[in-house]
Amino acid sequence: MQLHLSSWPEVEAYLTRSKAILIPIGSTEQHGPTGLLGTDALCAEFLARRAGDEAGFLVGPIFNVGQAQHHMGFPGTLTLRPSTMIAAMTDWANSLRRHGFERIYWLNGHGGNNGTIQAAITAIYHDTTFAEAKALRCLSRNWWELAGVAELIRELFPVGEGSHATPSEISITSYAFPEAIKRTDLIPKIAPVGPVFDAKDFRGRFPDGRIGSDPTQANASAGEKLVKTAVKALIAEFGAFAKA
Ligand code: NI
Repeated sequence: MQLHLSSWPEVEAYLTRSKAILIPIGSTEQHGPTGLLGTDALCAEFLARRAGDEAGFLVGPIFNVGQAQHHMGFPGTLTLRPSTMIAAMTDWANSLRRHGFERIYWLNGHGGNNGTIQAAITAIYHDTTFAEAKALRCLSRNWWELAGVAELIRELFPVGEGSHATPSEISITSYAFPEAIKRTDLIPKIAPVGPVFDAKDFRGRFPDGRIGSDPTQANASAGEKLVKTAVKALIAEFGAFAKA
């Protein structure tokens, strides 16, 4: 069930049986020469929708621009300042709180968002304490941390998973959006690794945008396996969180 494909009476009826909602959260940023700019948002959104449809829970719109200043050396990347993202997430949460939601599960598709998501959750709890708003609990989970997913990634891509433009995330988009997939040979086959600072430094260290990865291994069949495992774990974790 998707919020933006529902009417208000449907959401009102949903609130009589559950006070929990899942919000996918991602980023719009370069993912190497073959990865889609929307990869992080598309993965989180696809997993969220699949789980929400299978288990009958409500999934909100994708929060699809995040913390991507380090990718700004590559055309197409969009980013928010941390303060903008904290303010926007707090406004989304307070809107949902006003309607009676008591649990927000944020399913994240971009590791670079994590610090800011935690700060936003602190801001949301700050409102509970100081504005005496109704209690609202949050849980934030990276999709690759869902039960069984890391083990499956190690099995599928023992070499060249890396940490950006990974074969696992690009496999999920290959499965979900086969018409959008691009292919080309990449040199070196496995991208360099190193620290992440600002956009100019990033482009110097990682000239084609990948970090430690070989996304030419990505394929739709691996994506299907990852989706199946992640969705099963997401349904279980969301269900437990909704009742906690
Ligand atoms: Ni990514």
